[in-house]
Amino acid sequence: MNDPKNVERTGSGLVAVVTGASRGLGAGLAKAFADTGLRLALCARTVPAVPEGADAVTASVDVTDAGALDRFADEVVERFGRVDLWVNNAGVLGPIGPLVDADPEALRRHIDINVTGVLLGCRAFARVVRAQPGGGVLVNISSGAGTKIYEGWAAYCASKAAVDMMTAVVATEEHTHGLRAYALAPGVVDTDMQAQIRATPAASFPSVARFLKLDQEQAFNSPGWVASFILDLVEGRRGATDGVRVRVPDQPHDG
Ligand SMILES: NC(=O)c1ccc[n+]([C@@H]2O[C@H](COP(=O)([O-])OP(=O)(O)OC[C@H]3O[C@@H](n4cnc5c(N)ncnc54)[C@H](OP(=O)(O)O)[C@@H]3O)[C@@H](O)[C@H]2O)c1
Repeated sequence: MNDPKNVERTGSGLVAVVTGASRGLGAGLAKAFADTGLRLALCARTVPAVPEGADAVTASVDVTDAGALDRFADEVVERFGRVDLWVNNAGVLGPIGPLVDADPEALRRHIDINVTGVLLGCRAFARVVRAQPGGGVLVNISSGAGTKIYEGWAAYCASKAAVDMMTAVVATEEHTHGLRAYALAPGVVDTDMQAQIRATPAASFPSVARFLKLDQEQAFNSPGWVASFILDLVEGRRGATDGVRVRVPDQPHDG
């Protein structure tokens, strides 16, 4: 991954929740946010590591468990007094392959994590924002797959389209309470999820060659690059480009 860029500026003292922070994009966002002085609340099923020097609350939370998410939100408010930014990042990709071959239980579990889990995260944060002065910013991690057809990714395309739409509804319902909401497609970030994509045979995922090429060229967006766009949204330097949707542009690379 490339070094975080351009995030050593602002945000000092703001409180950010990141779900799915045990690895991948979520762990990278946590590190970049910590580097800017944000206070952190990090969760995943595996308790996330605290980035060096960060002031952080951590917990094991399965985002499909509404009670666990609400308890986590309560713990964060008790510790820090408020939440300024809530990033619903936890997500899964599979099952991958033609829908006709998919295991029904795997489809249900996917929707439970990627749709219900994000709905519950939005709900928990909206309750926090309604009870605090000054509003808050919700960022739901979406994907280009929410608007583009990928054969083999029926569940993932469906769940990310659902994330885009729920974000628009929450933004509309909660704006009078000071909540701003964005569905952010981070671009391609080199994580375990990308390794899973690259390891999929073309018979199950015909677009795999595109992702193998990105790996050869190391043409990834770093978590620090994505974090800088999220902080721009929080601090009003950027807005959504299409309704609530934001697509993080490709990070420039030398050569
Ligand atoms: N990587 C990319 O190129 C890319 C592109 C577009 C969008 N995204 C999105 O970015 C987000 C992060 O993806 P990633 O690439 O970082 O994936 P990843 O490396 O597989 O990490 C996924 C994270 O989600 C957590 N998670 C999974 N199921 C969970 C559950 N039920 N409850 C709580 N946490 C759970 C995992 O932790 P535990 O296993 O410990 O629970 C892990 O921390 C996802 O929403 C993904 O769809 C990624």
